[in-house]
Amino acid sequence: MTDMNHSASGDADQQRPGRRATRAFVERAALMLRAENVRKTFTLHGQGGIGIEALAGVSLEVERGECVVLVGPSGAGKSTLLRCLYGNYLASGGSIAIRDDNAPLQHLEITGAEPHDVLRLRRNVVGYVSQFLRVIPRVATRDLVAAPLVARGVAEDEALARAETLLARLNVPQRLWSLAPATFSGGEQQRVNIARGLIAQHRVLLLDEPTASLDAENRAVVSSLIVEARERGAAIVGVFHDEDTRERVATRRLPLEAPQALLGEAA
Ligand SMILES: Nc1ncnc2c1ncn2[C@@H]1O[C@H](COP(=O)(O)OP(=O)(O)O)[C@@H](O)[C@H]1O
Ligand SMILES: [Mg+2]
Repeated sequence: MTDMNHSASGDADQQRPGRRATRAFVERAALMLRAENVRKTFTLHGQGGIGIEALAGVSLEVERGECVVLVGPSGAGKSTLLRCLYGNYLASGGSIAIRDDNAPLQHLEITGAEPHDVLRLRRNVVGYVSQFLRVIPRVATRDLVAAPLVARGVAEDEALARAETLLARLNVPQRLWSLAPATFSGGEQQRVNIARGLIAQHRVLLLDEPTASLDAENRAVVSSLIVEARERGAAIVGVFHDEDTRERVATRRLPLEAPQALLGEAA
């Protein structure tokens, strides 16, 4: 019906993704994330400007309480899509919009957004858990995990107490809480990473294989935490390495396939 309205009005402006996103976020209170026709091409400058097309037009909408699991073979663009949604990679085309109560149109268009707007959105709305703890600063684990809450203005005592509760639940031994995670095992680092990503109860969560190096017991803890976040109303997009976790957390699956195209020399 909306498409008929478009053609009837003859207003080409209404066909633009930005206008469609605005209408979607105003009309649908549960809509948290909307991506339309997202493309991403990596240009290999050292190799004759050959372009690798990683995403060839991906669209998805995620509402509160949904967990969309991205499925597809290695190289299908799952991590690339999550990084584009987080604003880590700049999409080559298409629209990525996330609900933002502080924005005039109730959403922020990530592609082309000002860095300070993206940072505000990350503090208040969007959390991201990568497969590895990428930067390991010399900060005690407990403070590292509490930091996203402190950044939101939660009192330090309360933030630290919540960090400890979450670390205990993730079976990170108490003797490690006052140490920086640099020397921890891969699985311990990953659990610190998950605690830091989940503590602030972001309304949008992007999860890139958070359970990849965990044993079955800790995978089950992480699955429960993800299901709790979903039931609290978080909108989640994730990639999960094992079928058990996918089965537990997914409300829907989105298959991705690697676009085969190698694009010629950039014009
Ligand atoms: N930073 C990058 N530079 C160049 N190519 C990249 C980069 N990141 C990903 N790619 C390419 O994009 C494609 C998709 O990768 P990725 O998103 O990591 O897939 P998946 O997570 O589904 O395994 C792959 O061909 C990969 O080599
Ligand atoms: Mg990946």
